[in-house]
Amino acid sequence: MQGARVLVVDDQEANRLMVREVLEPLGYAITEAPDGAAALEAIKRQVPDIILCDVVMPNCDGYAVCRALKSDPNTRLVPIIMLTSLDQLPDKLQALELGADDYLTKPFNVVELTTRVRSLLSLKHFTDEFEHASRVLESIALVVESRDRYTGDHCKRLGRYGTRVGQAMGLNDVDLRSLWLAGIFHDLGKIAVSDTVLNKPGKLTPDELVLMRKHPVVGADLCGKMRTMDAIVPLIRHHHEKLDGSGYPDGLKGGEIPRVVRILTVVDVYDALATRRPYREALPHTKCMEIMREEVRRGWWDGDVLEVLDRCLRSS
Ligand SMILES: [Fe+2]
Repeated sequence: MQGARVLVVDDQEANRLMVREVLEPLGYAITEAPDGAAALEAIKRQVPDIILCDVVMPNCDGYAVCRALKSDPNTRLVPIIMLTSLDQLPDKLQALELGADDYLTKPFNVVELTTRVRSLLSLKHFTDEFEHASRVLESIALVVESRDRYTGDHCKRLGRYGTRVGQAMGLNDVDLRSLWLAGIFHDLGKIAVSDTVLNKPGKLTPDELVLMRKHPVVGADLCGKMRTMDAIVPLIRHHHEKLDGSGYPDGLKGGEIPRVVRILTVVDVYDALATRRPYREALPHTKCMEIMREEVRRGWWDGDVLEVLDRCLRSS
């Protein structure tokens, strides 16, 4: 990758110079930072394509840099090669556990360094393309949402409500991320529903209802084409299922509906009630809860999830 931005982080100027002398002639754009804190500041200004990072440094060491970058959604996909004189296995393992992508021991071999930089950069090129495709899909999902004049910021609210309920119920980070993404993408399938049906003030005809009820399947199929979306496909497909089996598209019952899906469903129904619709004004929180508690008694929704949502909203 000609012109790729490489950030070299090392407290020894001679070491930074050594890396620069190897990589600059190959067409890489090198920037330097003398310690971890300076590196994090530089990355705030411009995110590099790859980072070569020393481990033992004053102020903020390489492990701390790694931890900070890999836990930030904006930088978690930037490859990091730890470059250090430490060659003990526990040090390597610690760096890899923190998310470092590779590890080179000083004094480094020039061919090995350039080969690893090149291979990580080509991998990053692919992840950038995936990231780009996901962002395009997200823009489409938000455009689809904006066609529905009455839902406003529904998708992002759902992502927020879902992750808050999930956190309160002790879900792991993978499920929380799925809930956030599913909030954005759950109604993507409405792309196949016309504006007239989507914004119809009156009752839908049976044919229109059939069309409308296809949106979870259409959305799941669209997202299912991207492997990075695999985890949220079931959430999209099943967000209109009911615990008693009377939902759609598959009529799943009770334990067949995973907890993440139940959370998404409850926050989706709640937000629909709490938002102005073509046929009625927005309902106040107490009224939404009254309606949904009755629907829990009817066997539709997960009552535990609903009570957690109530607590989360009342404490905000
Ligand atoms: Fe939906």
